[in-house]
Order: sequence, then C-alpha cells, then structure tokens
Amino acid sequence: MVHSVRQAWAAVTAAGRSPRADGSAPDTIRPLFAADPQRFESYAFRADNMLLDLSKTALDGRAMAALLDLARVTGVEARRDAMAAGEHVNTTENRRALHMALRAPAGATRASGGAAVAAEIHSTLSRMHAFTQAIHGGALRGATGQRFTHVLNIGIGGSDLGPVMATRALVNPASPMTALHLGNVDGHGWRAILATIDPARTLVLVASKTFTTQETMANARLVKGWLAQTLGESNAASHMAALSTNLAACADFGIPSERVFPFGDYVGGRFSMWSAIGLSLALALGWDSFERMLEGARAMDLHFLKAPLEANMPVLMALAEVWHVNALGLNRRAVLPYDERLRRLPAHLQQLEMESLGKRVTLEGETITQATGPVVFGEPGSSAQHSFMQMVHQGPEPVPVDFILVARPDHPWLENHRILLAHGLAQAEGLLAGKDEAAVRAEMTAAGTDAATIEKLLPHRIFPGDRPSTTILLPRLEPFTFGQLIALYEHKVSVLGTLWNINPFDQWGVELGKQLANPLLEELETGSTGTTPHDASTTGLLRELLRLRGDG
Ligand code: F6P
Repeated sequence: MVHSVRQAWAAVTAAGRSPRADGSAPDTIRPLFAADPQRFESYAFRADNMLLDLSKTALDGRAMAALLDLARVTGVEARRDAMAAGEHVNTTENRRALHMALRAPAGATRASGGAAVAAEIHSTLSRMHAFTQAIHGGALRGATGQRFTHVLNIGIGGSDLGPVMATRALVNPASPMTALHLGNVDGHGWRAILATIDPARTLVLVASKTFTTQETMANARLVKGWLAQTLGESNAASHMAALSTNLAACADFGIPSERVFPFGDYVGGRFSMWSAIGLSLALALGWDSFERMLEGARAMDLHFLKAPLEANMPVLMALAEVWHVNALGLNRRAVLPYDERLRRLPAHLQQLEMESLGKRVTLEGETITQATGPVVFGEPGSSAQHSFMQMVHQGPEPVPVDFILVARPDHPWLENHRILLAHGLAQAEGLLAGKDEAAVRAEMTAAGTDAATIEKLLPHRIFPGDRPSTTILLPRLEPFTFGQLIALYEHKVSVLGTLWNINPFDQWGVELGKQLANPLLEELETGSTGTTPHDASTTGLLRELLRLRGDG
C-alpha cells in the first residue's frame, strides 16, 4: 500500500515506464492476452446489464494496483460521498454538485443532499409532469386552439447538448411530439428550423441556467418576435416556457411564473439534462421515457456509490484514462458509438469531459505539472472507420478508443445490424492484433503480388497493433440504459477531477471569449474600428470583414 499522493503517482508513472516482470513493454497488450486466457473475465465489469471491457488496454495487475492505490490516497470515495452529501465540492464557485439528487427518488437521502433540495427537485418534477400531461392530453393548447405538435428548445452548451443527444438517442415512431433545437446563434440554424414549423403548433422553451447567455437570449428574442408577428403580440407568451435558475430574468423576459421551471445552482450546465432542462425530452419522448432515463442514471449512481473501487465502473474508467494520459502519455481519446442514434454523444462528451477536465491549476490554484483531460472526439461507427480511424490504426501515436456496442437494434433489418456489430468488434480486434510484416508479406504473396511491389508497399500495409480500446456493451438502447451510460461518463469525470486534484465543476475558461466579444460586437454594429485596442491580426480581420460586408 502506498501512503502519499506523490508516491502513488510515482508508482503509476513507473508502471507506465518500466518493463513488466516478463520483460514485455508496459504499453503492450498482446502479451497480456497470451499470458492469461482468463483476461477478458478479469477485466470485464458489470453494472446491472451493462458491461465494460477494459481487457484491450495495457492495464495489468501492477498498473491496476498502483492506480487503485492512487484512487485511495487521493480520496476518491470521500470526495464522491462529499459530492453526494451536498458539500460545496465546486470550490471556485462555492457550489454543490448535486446532479445525483436530480434522479434520486423522493425520500432518498444519501444522494439527495438534503431534504430541502429533494423537495425542490420533486416539486419541479411534478410540475413538469403535469405540464407534459396537459400538453399531450390537449388541455393546454396554442393560441389558436390547436394542439402543440412541436417543441423548440432554445439553449446552448449544457442547455442544448444533453437534450439534443437524448432526443436523437431515444426518439421513436410513437414519440408524442417532435423536438427541435436552436443552439447556435448563427441565423442559418433558425432559418432551417423556420422552414419546418408552424407557430400555431409550436411550444418554445428557453433553456438557460443563467438566462443571460448572449447567444441564447438573442435567439429567444428572435423567436419571441416571430411568435408575436405570426400569432399576435399578446399570444407569444402562451407559446413559451423557461427553464432556468434565474427567475427574475425569466419574468423580465415576459414569461409568467407558472411557465417557469426552475432548478438550483447546484446543477452544472453539462450535468443538467436530468433537471428542468430536460423538459423538451419529457415532451418529445413522453413522461415514462423521461422517468426511465432518470431511473437508469439512478441505477448507475447507486453502483458508483456502493461498488468497491476495484469493481466500480466509473472509477475504473477514470483509472484507465489516467493510465493512458499520465502513464503512457496518450492525450487524445476517440468515442465511437456503433449506434446512429448516439451520434450526438461525442459532442455531449466533448463538453462534459473537456469543459470539466480542461484545467491547468489544482484546487489550491497551483500550476499542474502533468497532463489532465485528453482531447475527446468521435463519430458513430461504422462511418468513423471511413474517416479518422486511419490515424487511430496507423498514425504515429496510439489513440485510445471507447467503442459502444448495442446488442439488439430497434429496427427489423438484422443483417445491417450484424454488419454494424461485426465492424465494431473488428475495429477493436484490429487495433489490438495489428498486422505484422510476415502476415502482410504472406497475404500479398498469396494474392500474387510481385516481389518488388511487396517490398515497396510493405511498410504502408503494416499495422503496429497493441493499440488500446475500451468497449461498453448495452443490451438495447432505451431510456434506462441511456441514463446509465450518461451517468457513467458523468461519474468518470468527477473521479478524474479528484485524481487530478482539479475542479471538474467550473468553466472559467469560457469567460474570456464572452468578455472580448462585446466590444467587437459594438464595432461590427457601428462599423467603426479603433474604439477598442486589439492585436493587429484582430484589427486586420475586423476591417476586412467590414469591407467584405460592404461597410468598410
Ligand atoms: O459556455 C459556458 C456555459 O456556461 C456552459 O457551461 C453552459 O452549459 C452554457 O454556457 C449555457 O449556459 P446557460 O444555460 O446559462 O445559458
């Protein structure tokens, strides 16, 4: 057992640098499979009916022991419990991080952060439920008396990405309403939506934790103007609702209190789709689906809270990330869901992981000397195989991959699904096995290739192998398993915050751009440059934009 954080880190990095007892390099995976026929069983972990396979990484007994010691000495369990208990773990904003309370049943105490919070959350949930029922049942209709058939969610970042991802993942032919999302301030997005909706049948949700985000408020004003223009000034408000912590700003915007669905400042944007921010999901997918999604997340919360570190899925995923980033120096990770419905999962994870873990100072404000969150990117498989997977297989640096496979589809075209799964499995298998010179030579010879061509092409056709991947298996993609999956990543992020001693719940890095945009906006509005000093490049670009726009 290692006793200090410094020693624990030293043991982790040593495990990543020094050869194993059998002489194999610490980043190789094939020798581990060769030495242990039970490796899959030892490195596959289960929570409910979800499976996490870590066997195709270079983790071995020595690395796992060092990483688990790191988890113990950095206080992963204590920090997890402090978060669940409602302590102010978001130290730089002096806030709690109570996303687990959002999916705790009324009366649950451990993950609820206190009775007051639970009461607040369940009061909003019952109002969301009643509102959803009234809309679906036709008791609440638009100004012209027609039923609402479309819900337009206006929000950005965490007030957009979770709802968009969940809608795409869970929408089905029986879903009661169509959800549309206006995230970007780019008017082209609004123009595309405008072509598909009828104001008389559209309910607009302004989703903004702060209700001050410039892009969201610009879009909200635009859409409110459209409602007023098409339905009459006095009818616009009856087509709108707000999802926010800022009740005063909602009132100022003209949304009556019975149409405001609040949540607490203890919910971070990227952890918020379980709160009022999920209202578009309840409307689009149905209340039962929304509740099942919360139940799935709750099941993962309970696993996270109860499972011992060595069998705790989010903890193990976080440890595998530390292994890749800090022990092996791999600072990128690809996410490939082999399910088209999860196509916005990589975008959600980009915010969840990079906004949370892209930090350069510790909780104490000291500069971090090691790498923190990796760059996360991804696309659904098998499409991704035909774009960036070339780099993952043969680029100079390995890129760890998360593969997400779903056993049973919700469509009847089983051959397509078999092809999809075969490709997912094959990618992970190929990254591990690679293809060596002898195999390439034999393959080309058997194909009748002449000796000179073989020599020329040989290096191009070799795959190094020993490239790590993690596979998550879901029996089916449905609200419950989807909730489990997203909560798994949320908890992984919070554990990494503890391991790296950073605050995963703040996002000061997005503030600078917001501040700098204001004077630039003024200059674009007035067409006059020089009022605010900029670097020569920004001034040059601004002038060029004004000239190209025709006012410079
Ligand atoms: O860009 C920073 C950020 O604060 C995100 O963390 C958040 O999800 C997003 O903006 C939207 O903020 P709001 O919900 O307050 O409009």
